[in-house]
Amino acid sequence: MADSVSSALQILIVEDDRAHARIIAEVLEGEGHRVAAVHGAREGLAALEGRPPDLVITDLRLADASGLEIVRRARALRESAAVPQVVVVTGYGTVEGAVEAMRCGALHYLQKPLDVGILRETVRAAADRIALERKNRELQETLDRAYSFQGILGQTRAMQRVFDVMSQVAATDATVLITGESGTGKELVAQALHRAGPRRDAPFVPLNCAALAEGVLESELFGHVRGAFTGAHAERQGRFEAAHGGTLFLDEVGDMPLSTQAHLLRALESGEIVRVGTNTPRRVDVRVIAATHRDLDSRVREGAFREDLGFRLRVVELHIPPLRERLADLPHLAEHFVREAARRHGKPVRTLAPEALELLMAYRWPGNVRELKNAVESMVLLSRGDPIGPDAVPPYVRPAGGEPPDVLQALSGLPLAQVERALVTNTLRDVGGNREQAARLLGVSARTLYRKVSQYGLARRAGRAGSAG
Ligand SMILES: Nc1ncnc2c1ncn2[C@@H]1O[C@H](COP(=O)(O)OP(=O)(O)OP(=O)(O)O)[C@@H](O)[C@H]1O
Ligand SMILES: [Mg+2]
Repeated sequence: MADSVSSALQILIVEDDRAHARIIAEVLEGEGHRVAAVHGAREGLAALEGRPPDLVITDLRLADASGLEIVRRARALRESAAVPQVVVVTGYGTVEGAVEAMRCGALHYLQKPLDVGILRETVRAAADRIALERKNRELQETLDRAYSFQGILGQTRAMQRVFDVMSQVAATDATVLITGESGTGKELVAQALHRAGPRRDAPFVPLNCAALAEGVLESELFGHVRGAFTGAHAERQGRFEAAHGGTLFLDEVGDMPLSTQAHLLRALESGEIVRVGTNTPRRVDVRVIAATHRDLDSRVREGAFREDLGFRLRVVELHIPPLRERLADLPHLAEHFVREAARRHGKPVRTLAPEALELLMAYRWPGNVRELKNAVESMVLLSRGDPIGPDAVPPYVRPAGGEPPDVLQALSGLPLAQVERALVTNTLRDVGGNREQAARLLGVSARTLYRKVSQYGLARRAGRAGSAG
Protein backbone atom coordinates (compact mmCIF):
# COMPACT_ATOMS: atom_id res chain seq x y z
CA MET A 1 0.00 0.00 0.00
CA ALA A 2 2.74 2.40 1.03
CA ASP A 3 4.66 1.66 -2.17
CA SER A 4 1.66 2.47 -4.31
CA VAL A 5 1.46 6.07 -3.09
CA SER A 6 5.09 7.00 -2.52
CA SER A 7 7.62 7.47 -5.27
CA ALA A 8 11.20 8.63 -5.75
CA LEU A 9 12.02 11.70 -3.69
CA GLN A 10 14.43 14.55 -4.25
CA ILE A 11 16.45 14.53 -1.00
CA LEU A 12 18.89 17.13 0.31
CA ILE A 13 21.43 16.08 2.95
CA VAL A 14 23.05 18.80 5.07
CA GLU A 15 25.97 17.33 6.98
CA ASP A 16 29.50 18.47 7.92
CA ASP A 17 30.91 14.96 8.01
CA ARG A 18 31.46 13.96 4.38
CA ALA A 19 31.89 10.26 5.09
CA HIS A 20 28.63 10.26 7.02
CA ALA A 21 26.82 12.11 4.24
CA ARG A 22 28.10 9.57 1.72
CA ILE A 23 26.74 6.65 3.74
CA ILE A 24 23.29 8.24 4.00
CA ALA A 25 23.33 9.06 0.29
CA GLU A 26 24.23 5.51 -0.68
CA VAL A 27 21.52 4.00 1.46
CA LEU A 28 18.85 6.33 0.09
CA GLU A 29 19.97 6.05 -3.51
CA GLY A 30 19.65 2.31 -2.98
CA GLU A 31 16.00 3.01 -2.19
CA GLY A 32 15.57 4.74 -5.55
CA HIS A 33 15.74 8.37 -4.37
CA ARG A 34 17.74 11.22 -5.91
CA VAL A 35 20.15 12.60 -3.35
CA ALA A 36 22.23 15.79 -3.17
CA ALA A 37 24.59 16.42 -0.25
CA VAL A 38 25.97 19.78 0.91
CA HIS A 39 28.31 20.69 3.75
CA GLY A 40 27.48 23.27 6.37
CA ALA A 41 24.45 25.41 7.08
CA ARG A 42 25.35 28.13 4.61
CA GLU A 43 25.44 25.72 1.69
CA GLY A 44 22.26 24.13 3.00
CA LEU A 45 20.41 27.44 3.05
CA ALA A 46 21.71 28.25 -0.43
CA ALA A 47 20.48 24.88 -1.72
CA LEU A 48 17.00 25.67 -0.40
CA GLU A 49 16.91 28.84 -2.49
CA GLY A 50 16.63 26.90 -5.73
CA ARG A 51 14.05 24.27 -6.56
CA PRO A 52 13.05 22.95 -3.13
CA PRO A 53 13.65 19.25 -2.40
CA ASP A 54 10.89 16.95 -1.15
CA LEU A 55 12.87 16.00 1.94
CA VAL A 56 15.76 17.54 3.86
CA ILE A 57 17.91 15.49 6.22
CA THR A 58 20.03 17.81 8.30
CA ASP A 59 22.44 17.37 11.15
CA LEU A 60 21.44 19.63 14.02
CA ARG A 61 25.01 20.44 14.93
CA LEU A 62 26.76 22.15 12.05
CA ALA A 63 30.00 24.10 12.31
CA ASP A 64 28.72 27.40 10.88
CA ALA A 65 25.17 27.52 12.36
CA SER A 66 22.52 25.42 14.04
CA GLY A 67 20.68 22.89 11.90
CA LEU A 68 17.55 24.50 13.32
CA GLU A 69 18.11 27.30 10.83
CA ILE A 70 17.77 24.73 8.06
CA VAL A 71 14.57 23.34 9.61
CA ARG A 72 13.04 26.79 9.94
CA ARG A 73 13.94 27.89 6.44
CA ALA A 74 12.79 24.66 4.81
CA ARG A 75 9.44 24.68 6.62
CA ALA A 76 8.90 28.35 5.85
CA LEU A 77 9.38 28.13 2.08
CA ARG A 78 6.44 30.19 0.94
CA GLU A 79 6.91 30.12 -2.78
CA SER A 80 6.68 26.38 -3.20
CA ALA A 81 3.25 24.79 -2.97
CA ALA A 82 4.92 21.74 -1.41
CA VAL A 83 6.83 22.60 1.75
CA PRO A 84 9.76 20.18 2.18
CA GLN A 85 9.62 17.68 5.04
CA VAL A 86 12.63 17.65 7.34
CA VAL A 87 14.30 14.88 9.32
CA VAL A 88 16.98 15.99 11.78
CA VAL A 89 20.00 14.03 12.95
CA THR A 90 21.11 14.54 16.55
CA GLY A 91 24.30 13.46 18.20
CA TYR A 92 25.06 11.55 21.37
CA GLY A 93 21.55 11.03 22.69
CA THR A 94 20.68 14.71 23.10
CA VAL A 95 16.97 14.98 22.53
CA GLU A 96 16.43 18.63 23.55
CA GLY A 97 17.53 19.84 20.15
CA ALA A 98 15.27 17.28 18.52
CA VAL A 99 12.27 18.51 20.50
CA GLU A 100 12.98 22.06 19.41
CA ALA A 101 13.37 20.91 15.82
CA MET A 102 9.99 19.14 15.90
CA ARG A 103 8.45 22.32 17.24
CA CYS A 104 9.88 24.14 14.23
CA GLY A 105 8.16 21.66 11.96
CA ALA A 106 10.60 18.73 11.59
CA LEU A 107 8.86 15.43 10.94
CA HIS A 108 11.22 12.97 12.69
CA TYR A 109 14.63 12.79 14.28
CA LEU A 110 17.40 10.23 13.98
CA GLN A 111 20.10 9.64 16.55
CA LYS A 112 23.77 9.11 15.92
CA PRO A 113 25.28 6.66 15.43
CA LEU A 114 22.90 6.09 12.55
CA ASP A 115 21.17 2.76 12.25
CA VAL A 116 20.72 2.07 8.53
CA GLY A 117 17.48 0.14 9.12
CA ILE A 118 15.96 3.02 11.09
CA LEU A 119 17.14 5.49 8.44
CA ARG A 120 15.35 3.51 5.72
CA GLU A 121 12.17 3.18 7.79
CA THR A 122 12.15 6.89 8.65
CA VAL A 123 12.58 7.96 5.03
CA ARG A 124 9.84 5.54 3.93
CA ALA A 125 7.49 7.07 6.48
CA ALA A 126 8.44 10.55 5.26
CA ALA A 127 7.84 9.47 1.66
CA ASP A 128 4.35 8.27 2.56
CA ARG A 129 3.61 11.54 4.27
CA ILE A 130 4.88 13.53 1.28
CA ALA A 131 2.81 11.43 -1.15
CA LEU A 132 -0.28 11.93 0.98
CA GLU A 133 0.23 15.67 1.12
CA ARG A 134 0.71 15.76 -2.63
CA LYS A 135 -2.52 13.87 -3.13
CA ASN A 136 -4.40 16.18 -0.76
CA ARG A 137 -3.05 19.16 -2.57
CA GLU A 138 -4.19 17.80 -5.92
CA LEU A 139 -7.66 17.13 -4.54
CA GLN A 140 -7.72 20.59 -3.05
CA GLU A 141 -6.78 22.17 -6.36
CA THR A 142 -9.46 20.20 -8.16
CA LEU A 143 -11.97 21.35 -5.57
CA ASP A 144 -10.82 24.97 -5.88
CA ARG A 145 -11.19 24.80 -9.64
CA ALA A 146 -14.56 23.10 -9.60
CA TYR A 147 -16.11 25.39 -7.01
CA SER A 148 -14.77 28.79 -7.86
CA PHE A 149 -14.89 31.55 -10.41
CA GLN A 150 -11.67 33.51 -10.93
CA GLY A 151 -10.48 32.76 -7.39
CA ILE A 152 -13.87 33.39 -5.76
CA LEU A 153 -14.77 30.30 -3.80
CA GLY A 154 -18.33 29.09 -3.40
CA GLN A 155 -20.00 25.74 -3.77
CA THR A 156 -23.44 26.61 -2.43
CA ARG A 157 -26.33 26.98 -4.86
CA ALA A 158 -26.46 30.70 -4.08
CA MET A 159 -22.83 31.24 -5.12
CA GLN A 160 -23.07 28.94 -8.12
CA ARG A 161 -25.96 31.11 -9.31
CA VAL A 162 -23.81 34.22 -8.85
CA PHE A 163 -21.03 32.55 -10.91
CA ASP A 164 -23.53 31.61 -13.64
CA VAL A 165 -24.67 35.21 -14.02
CA MET A 166 -21.05 36.40 -13.88
CA SER A 167 -19.99 34.16 -16.73
CA GLN A 168 -22.99 35.33 -18.76
CA VAL A 169 -22.29 39.03 -18.31
CA ALA A 170 -18.46 39.11 -18.11
CA ALA A 171 -18.10 39.27 -21.87
CA THR A 172 -20.63 42.08 -22.26
CA ASP A 173 -20.49 45.79 -21.48
CA ALA A 174 -23.63 45.63 -19.34
CA THR A 175 -23.56 47.78 -16.24
CA VAL A 176 -23.59 45.54 -13.19
CA LEU A 177 -24.67 46.46 -9.69
CA ILE A 178 -23.22 44.25 -6.99
CA THR A 179 -25.06 44.27 -3.67
CA GLY A 180 -24.32 42.54 -0.39
CA GLU A 181 -23.26 43.17 3.18
CA SER A 182 -19.81 44.37 4.04
CA GLY A 183 -17.12 41.76 3.46
CA THR A 184 -19.16 39.47 1.20
CA GLY A 185 -16.70 39.85 -1.68
CA LYS A 186 -18.22 42.61 -3.80
CA GLU A 187 -14.91 44.07 -4.90
CA LEU A 188 -13.59 40.58 -5.63
CA VAL A 189 -16.61 39.97 -7.89
CA ALA A 190 -16.05 43.28 -9.69
CA GLN A 191 -12.40 42.41 -10.34
CA ALA A 192 -13.33 38.94 -11.52
CA LEU A 193 -15.88 40.36 -14.00
CA HIS A 194 -13.18 42.59 -15.38
CA ARG A 195 -10.60 39.82 -15.63
CA ALA A 196 -13.00 37.38 -17.26
CA GLY A 197 -14.04 39.81 -19.98
CA PRO A 198 -12.53 41.30 -23.14
CA ARG A 199 -11.33 44.40 -21.27
CA ARG A 200 -8.96 42.37 -19.06
CA ASP A 201 -5.80 43.93 -20.51
CA ALA A 202 -7.03 47.48 -19.98
CA PRO A 203 -7.14 49.13 -16.52
CA PHE A 204 -9.53 48.26 -13.69
CA VAL A 205 -10.00 51.55 -11.87
CA PRO A 206 -11.73 51.55 -8.47
CA LEU A 207 -13.20 54.59 -6.78
CA ASN A 208 -14.82 54.63 -3.35
CA CYS A 209 -17.72 57.08 -3.60
CA ALA A 210 -18.30 57.16 0.17
CA ALA A 211 -14.79 58.24 1.07
CA LEU A 212 -14.66 61.62 -0.68
CA ALA A 213 -16.35 64.98 -0.19
CA GLU A 214 -18.72 66.00 -2.98
CA GLY A 215 -16.42 68.40 -4.86
CA VAL A 216 -13.44 66.08 -4.63
CA LEU A 217 -15.52 63.17 -5.87
CA GLU A 218 -16.64 65.12 -8.94
CA SER A 219 -13.12 66.01 -9.91
CA GLU A 220 -11.87 62.48 -9.16
CA LEU A 221 -14.52 61.06 -11.47
CA PHE A 222 -14.43 63.54 -14.32
CA GLY A 223 -11.12 65.37 -13.90
CA HIS A 224 -10.73 69.13 -13.90
CA VAL A 225 -9.03 71.92 -15.79
CA ARG A 226 -6.55 74.35 -14.36
CA GLY A 227 -8.22 76.95 -12.16
CA ALA A 228 -11.50 75.03 -11.93
CA PHE A 229 -11.37 75.54 -8.17
CA THR A 230 -8.88 76.83 -5.63
CA GLY A 231 -5.97 74.43 -5.57
CA ALA A 232 -6.52 73.19 -9.14
CA HIS A 233 -3.03 74.18 -10.28
CA ALA A 234 -2.95 71.90 -13.27
CA GLU A 235 -5.32 70.13 -15.59
CA ARG A 236 -5.97 66.57 -14.51
CA GLN A 237 -7.81 63.60 -15.94
CA GLY A 238 -10.41 61.78 -13.84
CA ARG A 239 -10.96 58.09 -13.18
CA PHE A 240 -13.41 57.81 -16.08
CA GLU A 241 -10.69 58.72 -18.52
CA ALA A 242 -8.12 56.63 -16.64
CA ALA A 243 -10.41 53.64 -17.13
CA HIS A 244 -10.71 54.23 -20.89
CA GLY A 245 -10.94 50.86 -22.62
CA GLY A 246 -11.30 49.15 -19.26
CA THR A 247 -13.58 49.05 -16.24
CA LEU A 248 -14.53 51.73 -13.71
CA PHE A 249 -15.56 50.26 -10.37
CA LEU A 250 -17.78 52.64 -8.39
CA ASP A 251 -17.68 51.27 -4.86
CA GLU A 252 -20.29 52.36 -2.28
CA VAL A 253 -22.27 54.02 -5.05
CA GLY A 254 -25.29 54.20 -2.71
CA ASP A 255 -23.47 56.93 -0.79
CA MET A 256 -22.84 59.15 -3.81
CA PRO A 257 -24.13 62.73 -3.38
CA LEU A 258 -27.21 63.60 -5.48
CA SER A 259 -25.51 66.23 -7.63
CA THR A 260 -22.75 63.78 -8.59
CA GLN A 261 -25.41 61.19 -9.36
CA ALA A 262 -26.87 63.57 -11.95
CA HIS A 263 -23.47 63.98 -13.64
CA LEU A 264 -22.80 60.25 -13.51
CA LEU A 265 -26.15 59.51 -15.14
CA ARG A 266 -25.41 61.97 -17.92
CA ALA A 267 -22.00 60.38 -18.51
CA LEU A 268 -23.50 56.89 -18.63
CA GLU A 269 -26.23 57.91 -21.07
CA SER A 270 -24.01 59.90 -23.42
CA GLY A 271 -20.73 58.01 -23.19
CA GLU A 272 -19.07 61.40 -22.68
CA ILE A 273 -17.61 63.17 -19.69
CA VAL A 274 -16.90 66.82 -19.05
CA ARG A 275 -13.92 67.84 -16.94
CA VAL A 276 -14.85 70.17 -14.06
CA GLY A 277 -14.39 73.79 -15.18
CA THR A 278 -15.12 73.28 -18.89
CA ASN A 279 -18.00 72.51 -21.20
CA THR A 280 -16.05 70.36 -23.62
CA PRO A 281 -17.28 66.79 -23.72
CA ARG A 282 -14.80 63.92 -24.16
CA ARG A 283 -15.75 60.47 -25.35
CA VAL A 284 -14.89 57.63 -23.03
CA ASP A 285 -15.20 53.90 -23.58
CA VAL A 286 -15.71 52.56 -20.10
CA ARG A 287 -17.60 49.67 -18.60
CA VAL A 288 -19.09 50.60 -15.25
CA ILE A 289 -19.49 48.17 -12.38
CA ALA A 290 -20.97 49.53 -9.16
CA ALA A 291 -21.33 48.12 -5.68
CA THR A 292 -23.16 49.07 -2.52
CA HIS A 293 -23.85 47.52 0.85
CA ARG A 294 -26.99 49.65 1.07
CA ASP A 295 -30.53 48.83 -0.01
CA LEU A 296 -30.81 51.07 -3.06
CA ASP A 297 -34.62 50.92 -3.11
CA SER A 298 -34.88 52.38 0.35
CA ARG A 299 -32.28 55.01 -0.59
CA VAL A 300 -34.57 55.93 -3.49
CA ARG A 301 -37.58 56.11 -1.16
CA GLU A 302 -35.62 58.34 1.21
CA GLY A 303 -34.86 60.65 -1.70
CA ALA A 304 -31.13 60.01 -1.32
CA PHE A 305 -30.71 58.15 -4.60
CA ARG A 306 -32.01 58.90 -8.09
CA GLU A 307 -34.37 56.25 -9.31
CA ASP A 308 -33.32 56.72 -12.95
CA LEU A 309 -29.65 56.20 -12.04
CA GLY A 310 -30.67 53.10 -10.10
CA PHE A 311 -32.31 51.65 -13.23
CA ARG A 312 -29.27 52.55 -15.30
CA LEU A 313 -26.82 50.90 -12.87
CA ARG A 314 -28.74 47.72 -12.18
CA VAL A 315 -29.11 46.51 -15.74
CA VAL A 316 -27.81 43.36 -14.10
CA GLU A 317 -27.92 43.00 -10.33
CA LEU A 318 -25.71 40.51 -8.55
CA HIS A 319 -26.62 39.93 -4.93
CA ILE A 320 -24.03 38.19 -2.79
CA PRO A 321 -25.68 36.57 0.20
CA PRO A 322 -24.16 36.97 3.66
CA LEU A 323 -21.89 34.15 4.80
CA ARG A 324 -24.32 33.02 7.52
CA GLU A 325 -26.84 32.20 4.77
CA ARG A 326 -24.37 30.00 2.93
CA LEU A 327 -22.51 28.33 5.77
CA ALA A 328 -21.80 25.32 3.59
CA ASP A 329 -19.18 27.50 1.89
CA LEU A 330 -17.39 28.15 5.17
CA PRO A 331 -15.22 25.01 5.49
CA HIS A 332 -13.78 25.39 2.01
CA LEU A 333 -13.17 29.13 2.52
CA ALA A 334 -11.61 28.58 5.95
CA GLU A 335 -9.24 25.85 4.70
CA HIS A 336 -8.30 28.05 1.76
CA PHE A 337 -7.48 30.96 4.10
CA VAL A 338 -5.47 28.62 6.38
CA ARG A 339 -3.22 27.62 3.51
CA GLU A 340 -2.94 31.20 2.28
CA ALA A 341 -2.00 32.60 5.71
CA ALA A 342 0.38 29.70 6.41
CA ARG A 343 2.21 30.44 3.19
CA ARG A 344 2.30 34.17 3.87
CA HIS A 345 3.58 33.81 7.42
CA GLY A 346 5.73 30.75 6.86
CA LYS A 347 3.83 28.70 9.45
CA PRO A 348 3.92 24.91 9.08
CA VAL A 349 0.14 24.44 9.37
CA ARG A 350 -2.17 23.06 6.71
CA THR A 351 -5.59 22.44 8.15
CA LEU A 352 -8.20 23.00 10.90
CA ALA A 353 -9.17 20.47 13.54
CA PRO A 354 -12.87 19.49 13.37
CA GLU A 355 -13.55 21.10 16.79
CA ALA A 356 -12.10 24.41 15.56
CA LEU A 357 -14.22 24.27 12.41
CA GLU A 358 -17.29 23.52 14.51
CA LEU A 359 -16.78 26.75 16.47
CA LEU A 360 -16.40 28.72 13.24
CA MET A 361 -19.62 27.18 11.89
CA ALA A 362 -21.58 28.25 14.97
CA TYR A 363 -20.72 31.95 14.66
CA ARG A 364 -22.83 34.51 12.77
CA TRP A 365 -20.04 36.32 10.88
CA PRO A 366 -21.48 39.86 10.73
CA GLY A 367 -18.32 40.89 8.84
CA ASN A 368 -18.76 37.98 6.43
CA VAL A 369 -15.86 36.53 4.44
CA ARG A 370 -13.48 39.35 5.37
CA GLU A 371 -14.07 38.66 9.06
CA LEU A 372 -13.55 34.93 8.50
CA LYS A 373 -10.32 35.59 6.63
CA ASN A 374 -9.01 37.77 9.49
CA ALA A 375 -10.06 35.26 12.15
CA VAL A 376 -8.36 32.41 10.30
CA GLU A 377 -5.20 34.45 9.84
CA SER A 378 -5.00 35.09 13.59
CA MET A 379 -5.61 31.39 14.22
CA VAL A 380 -2.73 30.47 11.92
CA LEU A 381 -0.47 32.92 13.75
CA LEU A 382 -1.51 31.61 17.19
CA SER A 383 -1.55 27.93 16.27
CA ARG A 384 0.66 25.56 18.22
CA GLY A 385 0.58 22.76 15.74
CA ASP A 386 -1.14 21.17 12.80
CA PRO A 387 -4.11 20.80 12.66
CA ILE A 388 -5.11 24.10 14.28
CA GLY A 389 -7.06 23.33 17.45
CA PRO A 390 -10.10 25.03 18.99
CA ASP A 391 -7.88 26.89 21.48
CA ALA A 392 -6.71 29.15 18.62
CA VAL A 393 -10.28 30.29 17.79
CA PRO A 394 -10.63 34.01 18.70
CA PRO A 395 -12.72 34.64 21.84
CA TYR A 396 -15.36 36.74 20.05
CA VAL A 397 -16.15 33.79 17.78
CA ARG A 398 -16.85 31.46 20.70
CA PRO A 399 -20.39 31.16 22.00
CA ALA A 400 -20.96 33.53 24.91
CA GLY A 401 -21.86 30.59 27.17
CA GLY A 402 -25.05 30.41 29.21
CA GLU A 403 -28.45 30.19 27.53
CA PRO A 404 -28.66 27.50 24.90
CA PRO A 405 -30.17 28.92 21.69
CA ASP A 406 -33.52 27.08 21.97
CA VAL A 407 -34.21 28.90 25.26
CA LEU A 408 -33.70 32.17 23.41
CA GLN A 409 -36.07 30.95 20.69
CA ALA A 410 -38.80 30.51 23.28
CA LEU A 411 -38.38 34.16 24.29
CA SER A 412 -39.55 35.44 20.94
CA GLY A 413 -42.39 37.97 21.09
CA LEU A 414 -42.14 38.86 24.78
CA PRO A 415 -41.88 42.50 25.85
CA LEU A 416 -38.20 43.43 25.93
CA ALA A 417 -38.47 45.06 29.38
CA GLN A 418 -39.94 41.90 30.84
CA VAL A 419 -37.11 39.74 29.46
CA GLU A 420 -34.50 42.23 30.59
CA ARG A 421 -35.98 42.45 34.08
CA ALA A 422 -35.97 38.66 34.43
CA LEU A 423 -32.43 38.43 33.10
CA VAL A 424 -31.12 41.03 35.54
CA THR A 425 -33.04 39.53 38.48
CA ASN A 426 -31.86 35.98 37.79
CA THR A 427 -28.27 36.96 37.19
CA LEU A 428 -28.13 38.94 40.43
CA ARG A 429 -29.66 35.99 42.27
CA ASP A 430 -27.13 33.55 40.76
CA VAL A 431 -24.15 35.65 41.82
CA GLY A 432 -25.54 36.27 45.31
CA GLY A 433 -26.24 39.93 44.60
CA ASN A 434 -22.66 40.81 43.64
CA ARG A 435 -23.34 43.64 41.19
CA GLU A 436 -19.84 43.83 39.78
CA GLN A 437 -19.91 40.19 38.88
CA ALA A 438 -23.44 40.45 37.50
CA ALA A 439 -22.46 43.41 35.31
CA ARG A 440 -19.50 41.46 33.97
CA LEU A 441 -21.68 38.45 33.12
CA LEU A 442 -24.28 40.65 31.44
CA GLY A 443 -21.62 42.46 29.47
CA VAL A 444 -22.62 45.94 30.70
CA SER A 445 -20.92 48.56 32.84
CA ALA A 446 -21.59 48.75 36.58
CA ARG A 447 -23.38 52.06 35.94
CA THR A 448 -25.71 50.52 33.39
CA LEU A 449 -26.54 47.68 35.74
CA TYR A 450 -27.21 50.17 38.53
CA ARG A 451 -29.62 52.00 36.25
CA LYS A 452 -31.45 48.77 35.36
CA VAL A 453 -31.67 47.78 39.02
CA SER A 454 -33.40 51.01 39.96
CA GLN A 455 -35.49 51.09 36.75
CA TYR A 456 -36.97 47.68 37.53
CA GLY A 457 -37.26 48.31 41.28
CA LEU A 458 -34.81 45.54 42.15
CA ALA A 459 -32.73 47.72 44.49
CA ARG A 460 -34.16 46.37 47.71
CA ARG A 461 -33.62 42.69 46.94
CA ALA A 462 -30.28 43.09 45.21
CA GLY A 463 -29.12 45.59 47.79
CA ARG A 464 -29.84 43.26 50.68
CA ALA A 465 -27.82 40.41 49.21
CA GLY A 466 -24.97 42.68 48.09
CA SER A 467 -24.72 44.93 51.14
CA ALA A 468 -21.89 42.90 52.65
CA GLY A 469 -19.59 43.70 49.67
N1 LIG B 1 -15.94 33.89 -2.10
C1 LIG B 1 -14.72 34.29 -1.74
N2 LIG B 1 -13.65 33.52 -1.98
C2 LIG B 1 -12.42 33.92 -1.59
N3 LIG B 1 -12.17 35.06 -0.97
C3 LIG B 1 -13.18 35.88 -0.70
C4 LIG B 1 -14.52 35.53 -1.07
N4 LIG B 1 -15.34 36.53 -0.68
C5 LIG B 1 -14.57 37.46 -0.10
N5 LIG B 1 -13.27 37.08 -0.10
C6 LIG B 1 -12.17 37.84 0.50
O1 LIG B 1 -12.71 38.55 1.60
C7 LIG B 1 -12.20 39.88 1.65
C8 LIG B 1 -13.32 40.90 1.51
O2 LIG B 1 -13.80 40.92 0.18
P1 LIG B 1 -14.19 42.28 -0.57
O3 LIG B 1 -13.25 43.37 -0.23
O4 LIG B 1 -14.40 41.95 -2.00
O5 LIG B 1 -15.59 42.53 0.15
P2 LIG B 1 -16.62 43.74 -0.04
O6 LIG B 1 -17.95 43.11 -0.22
O7 LIG B 1 -16.12 44.66 -1.10
O8 LIG B 1 -16.57 44.41 1.38
P3 LIG B 1 -16.91 45.97 1.77
O9 LIG B 1 -18.37 46.17 1.53
O10 LIG B 1 -16.58 45.99 3.23
O11 LIG B 1 -16.03 46.82 0.93
C9 LIG B 1 -11.17 39.98 0.55
O12 LIG B 1 -9.91 39.70 1.09
C10 LIG B 1 -11.59 38.90 -0.42
O13 LIG B 1 -10.48 38.44 -1.13
MG1 LIG C 1 -15.49 46.66 -0.93
